[in-house]
Amino acid sequence: MNDIEERIDHLLGQMTLEEKIGQLNQPMIHGLPGLDLLRQGKAGSIINAFGALSGQGFDHLSSAEACNTLQKAALESRLGIPLLFGRDIIHGQRTVFPIPLAQAASFNPTLVEQINRVAAREASAVGIRWTFAPMLDIARDARWGRIAEGYGEDPYLTARMAEAAARGFQGDDVSQPDRLVACAKHYVGYGAAEGGRDYEQAEISEPTLRDVYLPPFRAAVAAGVGTVMSAFLDLNGVPATANRRLLTDILRGEWGFDGFVVSDWESIGELAQHGVAEDRAQAAALALHAGVDMDMVSGAYQETLAENLRCGRISDAELDTAVRRVLRIKHRAGIFERPFTDPERASRDILTAEARDLARQAARETMVLLKNDRNLLPLRDMRRILVAGPFVHATAELFGTWTMDGRAEDVVPLDQAFRQIAPTGVELWFAATPDLALSRAHYADAVILLMGEHPARSGENANVSDLNLPPGQLEWITAVAGIGKPTVLVVFAGRPLAITRAIAQVQAAIYAWHPGLEGAAALAEILFGLAAPSGRLPVSMPRATGQAPIYYARKPSGRPLREDGPFRTRYVDLPTVPLYPFGYGLTYTRFSYSDLRISSQRMRDTLTVSALITNVGERAGTEVVQLYIRDLVGSLTRPIRELKGFQRMTLQPGESRRVQFTLREEDLAFTRADGSWGAEPGRFKVWIAPHCEAGLEGEFML
Ligand code: NOJ
Repeated sequence: MNDIEERIDHLLGQMTLEEKIGQLNQPMIHGLPGLDLLRQGKAGSIINAFGALSGQGFDHLSSAEACNTLQKAALESRLGIPLLFGRDIIHGQRTVFPIPLAQAASFNPTLVEQINRVAAREASAVGIRWTFAPMLDIARDARWGRIAEGYGEDPYLTARMAEAAARGFQGDDVSQPDRLVACAKHYVGYGAAEGGRDYEQAEISEPTLRDVYLPPFRAAVAAGVGTVMSAFLDLNGVPATANRRLLTDILRGEWGFDGFVVSDWESIGELAQHGVAEDRAQAAALALHAGVDMDMVSGAYQETLAENLRCGRISDAELDTAVRRVLRIKHRAGIFERPFTDPERASRDILTAEARDLARQAARETMVLLKNDRNLLPLRDMRRILVAGPFVHATAELFGTWTMDGRAEDVVPLDQAFRQIAPTGVELWFAATPDLALSRAHYADAVILLMGEHPARSGENANVSDLNLPPGQLEWITAVAGIGKPTVLVVFAGRPLAITRAIAQVQAAIYAWHPGLEGAAALAEILFGLAAPSGRLPVSMPRATGQAPIYYARKPSGRPLREDGPFRTRYVDLPTVPLYPFGYGLTYTRFSYSDLRISSQRMRDTLTVSALITNVGERAGTEVVQLYIRDLVGSLTRPIRELKGFQRMTLQPGESRRVQFTLREEDLAFTRADGSWGAEPGRFKVWIAPHCEAGLEGEFML
């Protein structure tokens, strides 16, 4: 038995029942009166939050000094067990990076790792040692506001980002004082909420659960993520917070997870609302038995576990197991050795020049060029440019959801950033209202329209029933584009919006997501050609709300989508295919794909697939080369394409490079008709492709 486990045994042997239950309790602290609670050992963790959307009105808690005050009280408790401070550090702390969905568009796990490395350094400088991130919920319905917080629709891409995020937060050694314990959330199926309504139930079949929703969590566990959060939702009739099969049999039994599980906010108490528990006591027993170790905020563990134990509803062993897991992560995080945070760190570690540079790079790599007729972009030879739309003076509006520690004053306002970056000689005019925009457009050589969603319109519980641009924006675009000047549309958003009618009226369009505090400068660099866009869509972009849910890895159907003829799967009033497919994105040069080679016609353990990629344009550029497969016949129907690899590569004009992928038998595996997991012999298609609807196609056998 290793040292940590021995120390835990020793501690457990000394703990009273009350102290054990205390370790499983995560309250909010409303200022100093909470100190008594800590001195009595009645909290294992503090959530540095105030209100269900943490971050409202508790700035006094977000400093090393505040955490140290609370920690001191905890250390004055009988056994002096230190607290673990948790907070939602979702896409940066003070240095706000692009939202996670945008990060996914980079197809660059190294970037995601670096982002979270910075986030960990900043958050730990103010005493936080645990983040409730990454969110790994597969999201295929953009009405769901939390699509902004995850990595999109695809399990493979999300799994790669999950590993990168866990590495970025935790590093090789999470006990280093500038690291955060990560939390893979929301386990599991939360993104499949019916109708895109947050907190709503989902029905997910076992093969889909195992092949689509679970793999990112499995990847995070394999990467050593310290904690997992149980989701709010009712999944197939069993609320995730009471689901022993998921939380114990699969997570711990099959995957060997040995960290702890925290509930989501009050989700233990909510088991009574779900109607699977009579009262809070039964709810607490159900959750503990399922495998939820820590109670975020509901207080049900604190109030009822002692009585539950007395009446035999839970056992000593169950309780001890939960406490052991919490203590294990505290030990791994090194907080027994270093419970306090050096208050000097904040001035050194927060919002450094390197962090800003990384935020700029991230914003550049995440914006997606959707349209560029006659190479309007980058803008050249334009003297007077009108920049119009609700975002022209944006600062914190560029942040996106969950940016509790970001500050508007850290942002160079968009109009100023544009002025700094536009080439000399270019005159920029700004118009924040449609009438001013219209009157100016007549005299401009080009128009840039900055449209999209306010951050408050995405994120938790910010669902929409209509994926169109917010009210009035399409009319604004139509009116200005009608003047007939070359027009660029830029969309800031936390979700893929249905911009079909807007984009048809402009010559160029950039999807900028919510790009963070360097977003305006990065956008200006792209518009004026100092940088080239390289983002690719991590979600299918819908044509209209009615297409939701929409994703590329669909099953073929007996009457496939794309074949002509009557009675094929379709809408009477709309094409079935998305406006832009998963993986799509342009840049300022073009690439050709040629000479697909497959190492053998039959896979034995592995197979290599390669192709020649050539930059056939006139400037350097970055391509995201994607590998897809299709299993043509299976014991269960198989998706028409599945992403199995991607590589970013930068090529000079005229340069060619051979991209090579290795496929292993396990890449072909899935949950088969008999419930087992593995590959089935037969024919497979393979593509090396610029997005999910194109590419060089080959075949092989297994
Ligand atoms: C509720 C959210 O669902 C979860 O993602 C978040 O981490 C907690 N609140 C804590 O703020």
